[in-house]
Amino acid sequence: MNRIRILAMIMGLYCPGAITLADCPQSDPVVIAHRGASGHLPEHTLAAFKLAIEMGADYIEPDLVITKDGEFIVRHDHYLSQTTDIADKPEFSSRRRDLGGRNDWFSEDFTLAEIKTLRARQPFKGRSREHDGIHPIPRFQDVIELVKNESERLGKAVGIYPETKEPGYFETLGFDVDEMLIALLDKNGMNEHDSKVIIQSFEPEILRSLNNRVNVPLVQLVSPSGNKVNEDGSYQSNISLGELSEYADGVGAAKWLLVNQQGKANDFVSRAKKLGLFIHAWTFREDAYPEELFASGEEELKFFLKMGIDGYFTDFPDTDVKVKEWCQQ
Ligand code: G3P
Ligand code: CA
Repeated sequence: MNRIRILAMIMGLYCPGAITLADCPQSDPVVIAHRGASGHLPEHTLAAFKLAIEMGADYIEPDLVITKDGEFIVRHDHYLSQTTDIADKPEFSSRRRDLGGRNDWFSEDFTLAEIKTLRARQPFKGRSREHDGIHPIPRFQDVIELVKNESERLGKAVGIYPETKEPGYFETLGFDVDEMLIALLDKNGMNEHDSKVIIQSFEPEILRSLNNRVNVPLVQLVSPSGNKVNEDGSYQSNISLGELSEYADGVGAAKWLLVNQQGKANDFVSRAKKLGLFIHAWTFREDAYPEELFASGEEELKFFLKMGIDGYFTDFPDTDVKVKEWCQQ
């Protein structure tokens, strides 16, 4: 059964309307600005992260890939054609190559100095391209400095929630990804018990490696495992909660794991909490909610908030901060 059909069943059971405080089991849900305020500005740019902070996000979320000379830069993918103007750079045309079934340019083939010549592009159809060609590609260090500066300016701690992308692949290229990450956090004084930092990955190996070597929480990202379903008709998670609770503090779950095929909230959230895990769900997009099912993206988010998630990744932290405020009334 596809996800749209699952949501159609949800709709049959769900009546959008005013919700009350009792419907917000978590009254202070964590707002995580997914790739920055990426619904408004090209993702993973300092401008998008700064806007998210100004909108009130609790955490900003950078995805990390690595350059040829071993610098973490902030991109969702190590291939570069979708979110940068690299295809327009004749000096780089010969670097295009085949890798993993894709013909593209890859971060690991470029020095940081070369990456700095690129400018970000809006990858999502339907979103404004007004800012294409303006914003450079930041290092992770640049994002950390932005967070420090903005935290000081605003007088409140802004969190940072980095995701290491394809660490296993980068290890095969000779990069010691976990050591690189630890070194960067240490250098910035962001590996303390009270640092507002959460590290996430889809790959359990790096999280197992980081466990007990960092002082900040670890989140294992999980998604449905193909079409495998549990006895209650819910999609199986590609990593079980029991397994990931051995090394992670929280679970970052694809929202589809939280409902069963009858369209009801399943026990994923309660099982996670029984294991002592916090749960953050992804990804909420005000411009890409299922319109046939919900009156707005906000209504979709409310549906999931009622399940008791602790926080959520969103491309639109402005709208969702309003929901958070509502839950605190
Ligand atoms: O990291 C949480 C969520 O962002 C995972 O999806 O592909 O957007 O990194 P992705
Ligand atoms: Ca991510």
